[in-house]
Amino acid sequence: MALLDIEDLRVTFTTGDGEVNAVNGVSFSVEEGETLAIVGESGSGKSQTAFAAMGLLARNGRATGQIRYDGRNLLDLKQKELNRVRSEEIGMIFQDPMTSLNPYMRISDQMAEVLTLHKGMTKRDAVAEAVKMLDAVKIPDAKNRITMFPHEFSGGMRQRIMIAMALLCQPRLLIADEPTTALDVTVQAQIMELMAEIRQEFGTAIILITHDLGIVADTCERTLVMYGGQIMETGPTDQLFERPTHPYTLGLLRAVPRIDRDDETLSTIAGEPPDMSRLPKGCPFTPRCAWAHGPCPTVRPELLPAEGYPMLRRACHAPVEEVK
Ligand SMILES: Nc1ncnc2c1ncn2[C@@H]1O[C@H](COP(=O)(O)OP(=O)(O)OP(=O)(O)O)[C@@H](O)[C@H]1O
Ligand SMILES: [Mg+2]
Repeated sequence: MALLDIEDLRVTFTTGDGEVNAVNGVSFSVEEGETLAIVGESGSGKSQTAFAAMGLLARNGRATGQIRYDGRNLLDLKQKELNRVRSEEIGMIFQDPMTSLNPYMRISDQMAEVLTLHKGMTKRDAVAEAVKMLDAVKIPDAKNRITMFPHEFSGGMRQRIMIAMALLCQPRLLIADEPTTALDVTVQAQIMELMAEIRQEFGTAIILITHDLGIVADTCERTLVMYGGQIMETGPTDQLFERPTHPYTLGLLRAVPRIDRDDETLSTIAGEPPDMSRLPKGCPFTPRCAWAHGPCPTVRPELLPAEGYPMLRRACHAPVEEVK
């Protein structure tokens, strides 16, 4: 059984301008210890998919479908039970650690609170455990620095602290939403290396949401490409990146500068992402797709196994078979 199994997830927001369909029938699963990347342009529904799984949607949002974690549908859980699962079994880290850390509390108190609350530890044991975890994420001199406040650490160090906090209860799943976007390239690389080590050491499954396809290629076994709140294509990362056949995946990859290729082929995808309150009936990528034909604007393609590409599933009436 998969650790996380999402089926036909839909997220809708009610706004003054009508309904916004942020996630439109997304299904995927994550196995124990696996790393899955979710990629796609801004507004494609990546964060809302993760937020729905964590019960963190904004007030005007609602989710339907199934989000089975360890066999239970998280969407059916009572608030108290959901809180327990969230704090003990699924860790989440966000782009900006300052929004998740309390600026007025010492790191030691913030971290210890998690363990006294959820693991019933004494404050003293909890602080000792927190120091161990800060050591594990390579905060230098953790034993002394743990009594400092968040603002006394650099951005990269704060993100390490967030990772340490997310790991305190040894979750089986870690969801990281753009965890390195606010950091410079060197620190980004260090944080990603750290996440890879954590996975090795603790066997934590990781869902990584990111715009950085370079990071995905280096760190994630499987990739899920989203557009218009739907999955366009999913499969093993190396296969997807080496032989992209979905026009949207191809577009995303062509927009990444590569040193082994002429920059002439570097291009952004023309046009704008769709308005999520007025999604077309068919494939949402149709207006920007050079391969669009017959059924594309009117019939929504199903996510199906791709012939000749083992392990790959894609939702497309007009796959790009030969283009590279
Ligand atoms: N509270 C809300 N009310 C209305 N619409 C919302 C709300 N929150 C998110 N949305 C809309 O849901 C859609 C999906 O948003 P989401 O945050 O999942 O995008 P994303 O793929 O994570 O983008 P980014 O890469 O920019 O983080 C967007 O069109 C967004 O405007
Ligand atoms: Mg997002």
